[in-house]
Amino acid sequence: MAQGEFHAIAASLPDPFHLLVRENATSTNDELRALAENGAKEGLILLAENQSAGRGRRGAAWFSPSGESLAFSILLRPQAPKALWPRLALASGLALAEAFGKMGAEALIKWPNDVWLQQRKVAGILVESGKDFVIVGIGINVTTLEFPPEVAAIATSLQLAMGRPFLRADVLAAVIHQLSQRCAQIGNHFDEVLDGVRLRCALTGQHVSLLTSSGPKTGWIEGISPGGELILRTSYGVETLMQADEIRLIPL
Ligand code: BTN
Repeated sequence: MAQGEFHAIAASLPDPFHLLVRENATSTNDELRALAENGAKEGLILLAENQSAGRGRRGAAWFSPSGESLAFSILLRPQAPKALWPRLALASGLALAEAFGKMGAEALIKWPNDVWLQQRKVAGILVESGKDFVIVGIGINVTTLEFPPEVAAIATSLQLAMGRPFLRADVLAAVIHQLSQRCAQIGNHFDEVLDGVRLRCALTGQHVSLLTSSGPKTGWIEGISPGGELILRTSYGVETLMQADEIRLIPL
């Protein structure tokens, strides 16, 4: 039973984080939103063993097999101005990559916050905000060895990539510890977050094609701007992107 597996780490989580484990949820982001709107405290982590409607970015379904993956959402009530809350996307991606690194799995960040091991996605993040709260939804492939055909070529798990087992509870604890530090930096110390993201940016120096709000583009990624945007050089010049979908590396 999931509860027992996480019992030992629940007491070791940094303040104000506290864990609520449900066997079943629709989407932990949706269920945590309902709790947040009813006054749940900052730091509540809702983890579900099974999600019937787990969601990824852009409305995609999220595959999170029971016992092999982690699907959880974290409630934050940031003190930083609301205009800075989008920074949580980069901060949480960095926290995941750093947590995996501490466990011996040197991960990269595919801007803004997919986490990659060996050029495959090992974790994804869905940040959603409410009136006075933010929900950071996280899906991590921990011990999965087989993926459905639609993602088999682009997904991996910690175990598959590193060739050794990982305990879900240890991964969860490492992630929450890093998150507690990085998410606190969106106000005054965001430069430190950016430095960490730049160090682990999988896209810098790469030739890519991407979909932007103004259409498809192709170019070279020059890095991450002081505001956290992606810097793209195309044949028309340099531009910064706040948001881009379907970023694909173009092999030379
Ligand atoms: C992505 O890469 O597209 C984001 C995936 C986010 C999945 C997690 S699993 C826990 C939480 N609940 C959801 O419905 N989605 C997020």
